[in-house]
Amino acid sequence: MNFENITFEIKYKTGIIKINRPDKLNALNHKTLVELKTIFTSIKDDDNIDVMVITGTGEKAFVAGADISELNKCDGETGEKFALEGQEVFNLIENLGKPVIAAVNGFALGGGCELALACHIRLASTNAKFSQPEVNLGIIPGYGGTQRLTRIINTGRAAELILTGDMIDAAEAYRIGLVSKIYNPDELMNKAVELADKIGSKGQDAVRMALKAIIAAGEMHRADGLKYEARLFGNCCGTEDFKEGTKAFLEKRKPEFKK
Ligand code: COA
Repeated sequence: MNFENITFEIKYKTGIIKINRPDKLNALNHKTLVELKTIFTSIKDDDNIDVMVITGTGEKAFVAGADISELNKCDGETGEKFALEGQEVFNLIENLGKPVIAAVNGFALGGGCELALACHIRLASTNAKFSQPEVNLGIIPGYGGTQRLTRIINTGRAAELILTGDMIDAAEAYRIGLVSKIYNPDELMNKAVELADKIGSKGQDAVRMALKAIIAAGEMHRADGLKYEARLFGNCCGTEDFKEGTKAFLEKRKPEFKK
């Protein structure tokens, strides 16, 4: 597959996507969204890839938002389509069925923050900056920010960020639970791949079922979520990995999960 605005490589069983428009701070234009949709669609059922990492090219930006030069052309009708196109790609990422780690290496603004929010785990470099600055442009977040930010942090903090457009640094993002770890810029990618490898070393049926249950927590009522968790737990108990994992424990050895 040939891409213009993203790069893709596989390291062992981790897929690494880089948004690659550094001269535009990796802003997401239509072409980039199409390329992201193409690559994530092809990865979804690819058993050679267990975990994904997504980051931005260059030292300055993860993604500085939707491309404002394209956004600027929207009217009341096309604006909705514009938002739905981004949402479709970000929903695909959230529901990929395998873990996606955002390695936030600089500005994550607007659609860039929303891209990170659609990932399951967010790591940041010390120079990362987060913001939903849409109110400064006379709009609101349209790629899922109002829905995901309110769930990932809390409603009050999300409201403050979305209503002021304020930018926060990595330390503040960590403090409010927006990112789970902070690393020096030169170690961020290694740490992200290390984390991906660690998750990749577990039984992948269990990883994927855990992910489904975690996503359901944001969408289902608690009682339904608990029933769903029990069903997935039962599904896990029917897998070879479960037999191997429990047998290995009892035999005091490391499990050898199916690859
Ligand atoms: N869409 C389109 N182009 C963008 C962009 C975006 N979201 N963000 C940055 N760029 C472009 C700039 O226009 C500039 O292009 P040019 O060199 O052809 O003029 C280039 O990226 C570098 O950005 P610049 O603004 O010169 O860098 P800076 O260091 O002075 O400022 C930011 C960095 C992130 C503070 C600033 O670029 C910015 O505010 N970007 C927009 C953020 C935003 O509102 N995002 C939400 C969109 S919904």
